[in-house]
Amino acid sequence: MTPDEDAVPPQAIRKLAPGKLVIASHNEGKVREIRELLAPYGIEPVSAKELDLPEPIETGTTFLANAELKAMQAADLSGLPALSDDSGLCVEALLGAPGVFTADWAERHPYEGPKGRDWYMAMGKVEGKLAELGPDANRSAYFACTLALAWPDGHVEWFEGRAHGHLVWPPRGTLGFGYDPVFVPEGDTRTFAEMDPAEKHSISHRADAFRQLVAAVF
Ligand code: IMP
Repeated sequence: MTPDEDAVPPQAIRKLAPGKLVIASHNEGKVREIRELLAPYGIEPVSAKELDLPEPIETGTTFLANAELKAMQAADLSGLPALSDDSGLCVEALLGAPGVFTADWAERHPYEGPKGRDWYMAMGKVEGKLAELGPDANRSAYFACTLALAWPDGHVEWFEGRAHGHLVWPPRGTLGFGYDPVFVPEGDTRTFAEMDPAEKHSISHRADAFRQLVAAVF
């Protein structure tokens, strides 16, 4: 596990008892994947949206800081343990961008259409930046995922996963979410959006972080 720069020292692992667990995310794609990953563990997932919890402003500059912020707020407001995911796409030639700003790159400006997120526009922005670097630009990229598990008393555990690969253009596939249609994981020729969910779950950054969480807290 490679911590972000502002990572806290490793702490004693606390076990998660069966029962309700808040999924501290308003991103439906993430909530769906986390529900699927939790399915075998006797946990009763309930989403932040179902509990009508507010979506916090992500003020952190690292995946860990944002993951902690989301999980701690949800645990505090709900009185239940809460699991959050902060993740993003890091492109080598763009010095790790969009990174923690991955979701922001999809946000439409007023002149780009109705308020909300447009993932095709976001993928196009990444491709545009690579095109500015010329035809030989390094297309290596990785998805990063930090999971934070917080309890109402303020205790937090965190786990970090990655999936390495490269970017393709144009986007391919209709499965998954976010930037999946342009990301081909190492050792494959299909994008994440061309793989069925079970296959993506066996190799994704989220699954990598999740494996560590399962080994530690269940
Ligand atoms: P945040 O963690 O809420 O700041 O959002 C991270 C963004 O990264 C998501 O909204 C997605 O666009 C992108 N992302 C994270 N994980 C994945 C993935 O598994 N596939 C595609 N895009 C992802």
